[in-house]
Amino acid sequence: MLAATLAASLFAVSPASVHAATVSSTAAQTFLGVGGSGAWWPHDLFNFPDAVRQNLSTLLFSQSGLGLSSYRFNIGGGGVGVVNPVRAPQTFYVSPGVYNFSADPQGVYFLQQAGAHGVPITAFVNSAPSQLTSNKASCGGTFVNGTGAAYGTYVADVISHWRSTGLMINFISPMNEPDNSFGSPGSCGQEGMQVSANQRAEVVNGVFNALQSRGLSTAVGILADESSSLSLATSEYPTWLPSVANKVAAIVHHTYDFPTDASYTSFVNTVKSIAPGKATWMSEICCSLGTGAGTGRGYTQGFDPTITNALMFSGLVFQSFVLASEPHYDASSFEIQLHLLCLTPCSSSSGPWSQMGALPSPVRTVQPPPNSVGWNDGMIYYDPSYATNKNFALYLTKHFWTYKHFGNFVKPGSVRLPLVGTDVREWMMAVSTSTTYNLILMNPNTTDSTLTISFPDTVCPISGFRTSATEDFATVAAATKSGTSWLLPLKTMSLTTYTFNRAAC
Ligand SMILES: *[C@@H]1O[C@H](CO)[C@@H](O)[C@H](O)[C@H]1NC(C)=O
Ligand SMILES: *[C@@H]1O[C@H](CO)[C@@H](O)[C@H](O)[C@H]1NC(C)=O
Ligand SMILES: *[C@@H]1O[C@H](CO)[C@@H](O)[C@H](O)[C@H]1NC(C)=O
Ligand SMILES: *[C@@H]1O[C@H](CO)[C@@H](O)[C@H](O)[C@H]1NC(C)=O
Repeated sequence: MLAATLAASLFAVSPASVHAATVSSTAAQTFLGVGGSGAWWPHDLFNFPDAVRQNLSTLLFSQSGLGLSSYRFNIGGGGVGVVNPVRAPQTFYVSPGVYNFSADPQGVYFLQQAGAHGVPITAFVNSAPSQLTSNKASCGGTFVNGTGAAYGTYVADVISHWRSTGLMINFISPMNEPDNSFGSPGSCGQEGMQVSANQRAEVVNGVFNALQSRGLSTAVGILADESSSLSLATSEYPTWLPSVANKVAAIVHHTYDFPTDASYTSFVNTVKSIAPGKATWMSEICCSLGTGAGTGRGYTQGFDPTITNALMFSGLVFQSFVLASEPHYDASSFEIQLHLLCLTPCSSSSGPWSQMGALPSPVRTVQPPPNSVGWNDGMIYYDPSYATNKNFALYLTKHFWTYKHFGNFVKPGSVRLPLVGTDVREWMMAVSTSTTYNLILMNPNTTDSTLTISFPDTVCPISGFRTSATEDFATVAAATKSGTSWLLPLKTMSLTTYTFNRAAC
């Protein structure tokens, strides 16, 4: 409070716009990764000129881009029954014990790009190969009781193969959204295999045993069960989780119910009681409108490439990191998308992916404006007509630039230090390494404000980066000193990262 009053008098700003906080010296969670996923854009981007593929890899995996520290590789199920060819990756599976590792060159290309950039990898499965599912398709069916060993063998063989080429596949999620089979073969929009709650322990046991027999059960952690929503996850955990909790590395979920803070907190507490000591991770979300402060969230169609939506997604990251103290966050399962490169105005027929290919030339050079027919499921968009119009441009939304703050500054091994004070909000976060503090701070309000902050040890401000309506990760002045505190300007509708060395200047 003293610092706030001092800053207010020094700079003659309204006291209402000055907030004060102290960085705690007691760590909350240690971060494991900030990720993105290779489902399903590799199918198309593989066909782009090599210079663009390289550029995309840099945008994803290098610190000059998002700086992702985790990549989700989709082990394809062969796409049997899936009507969207982009979402029908080939499978490595030929028959029991026989594989074709030349299959899915598209997915493998970007898997290897992640590996070449030193990014740790999570492999995940939407459906077992069709030979193993109840309906002999890659969607619309279910896991078959009694096939846990066969399925585990397949998954472990695939991981073992790619690990032997030097790729750091450290985690496997063997049943992505097991609550959904994604339709009927012949009309499915993607792969999917339902795994009833009472079948999930068999899947975990099958994969664990196969990994163990290859000496990989500690090197490759099992993530489960990637339920679509927290409410569903909570209701189904008692059925499967207690019997296999010791074989699961982390309890991983999606948040398609866009939980309130109270619901998210209740979820975390439920997991603590069912599987004590197990961390929860957020591994997929997309497709919402709403505000940075959290109002108006919910799964819906609609496209908004502006700072408003970018802050909404940032608010979701803060909710998982700050409210839920989760160590790992993955953006949308499809953070590069072909949606929505329509000319203005977008028509309703240009909404879903299936109609995008018919859009007219000329080549689009600018983002379309917000509209109701696209989807907020990407950070980088591309033209679905690339094959015919040769438009190989990559279109970055504001969401790309805000996610870069997390990708660049929340690194594996860094820790979150809680901010303390009555003015502290969920969307303010301090991340510490042994040598630096990164303060990632959102101002979702319509007025500028200033945060005055105090640290537990001696610091020296070194940089500031800001994304706002008019700025894309722009360099801004580092923090300035005010007495024993530091002044951090927070521009209206922005995400800013201030970095400090943990040493005297
Ligand atoms: C392996 O998959 C590739 C890519 O689809 C294909 O060209 C090749 O014929 C397959 N090899 C075998 C032996 O099936
Ligand atoms: C599959 O196995 C589970 C666990 O034993 C059991 O609860 C369930 O009824 C079985 N499902 C079928 C379709 O047999
Ligand atoms: C990479 O793509 C971005 C986004 O389209 C573009 O701004 C940039 O110029 C490209 N860089 C290279 C080296 O092609
Ligand atoms: C934004 O406004 C809310 C509500 O008045 C307030 O609680 C919050 O501290 C403000 N945040 C910032 C960064 O100014």
